[in-house]
Amino acid sequence: MSILEIIKSRRTIYQFKSKLIPLDLVNHCLEASIWAPNHKMTEPWRFWVIGQETQAKLADIYAENRALKRTERGSDTFDEIYQKAIVKFQAIPQVILVGQVLAQEPVTIQEDYAACSCAIQNFQLAAWDTEIGVQWSTGPIIEDKRTYELLSINSSQLKLIGALYMGFPECVGKSVRQPIERVTTYLA
Ligand SMILES: Cc1cc2nc3c(=O)[nH]c(=O)nc-3n(C[C@H](O)[C@H](O)[C@H](O)COP(=O)(O)O)c2cc1C
Repeated sequence: MSILEIIKSRRTIYQFKSKLIPLDLVNHCLEASIWAPNHKMTEPWRFWVIGQETQAKLADIYAENRALKRTERGSDTFDEIYQKAIVKFQAIPQVILVGQVLAQEPVTIQEDYAACSCAIQNFQLAAWDTEIGVQWSTGPIIEDKRTYELLSINSSQLKLIGALYMGFPECVGKSVRQPIERVTTYLA
C-alpha cells in the first residue's frame, strides 16, 4: 500500500480476533512512533507495553469506571456491567499506554502533546500496514490515579494521554471525511 492508501484505509478498530500480537510487531510500531516530529527534540513520549498481570489490574479499573458511569456501586446492574466490562477489557489482545513527559513551559507542553499525537498516529499507521488494528482511547483509565500507581508514575512529571488497544481486526468499520474544499481556504 502507498502511504496515502494506508492513511485512508486505516480505521479505528473496536473488535479484535483473540490472536495475540507478537512482541516484535509491537516494537515495530513503537519504532515508527519514536520517529515522530518533536520540537526541540524533547522526545516527550513514554510507552508501557502491558502484560497479562497488569492488564488484569487495569481491567478492574476500566470496569469499575464503566459501571460507575452508568449506575451506583452495589446495585445488581453495577455487577452486571462490571463483569461484562472485565471480559471486554481482558479480550483486548494488547494494551499499550502512552504518556507525555510534562515540561515546565505551557508552550512546550502543548507542542509535546502534538508530538505525542504524531507518535500515536505513526504507531497506528505502522500497525495498519501490518494488518493490525488500533483503538486510540482517552477513556477514564488514563485519568484514574490507580493507573498512575500501578505504573509507578508521578503525575506531576508525566501525564497519561492515551490507551492504545491493538489486535488483528475482527471487523473494520466505515468512516467518512468532508472533502478538502470544505476545510481549506485557497488564497491568492
Ligand atoms: C485524541 C483522540 C482521542 C480518542 N479517544 C477515543 C476514545 O476514547 N474512544 C474511542 O472509541 N475512540 C477514540 N478516538 C478515536 C476516534 O473516535 C476515531 O479516530 C474517529 O471516530 C474516526 O474514526 P477512524 O479512526 O476510523 O477514522 C480518539 C481519537 C483521538 C485522535
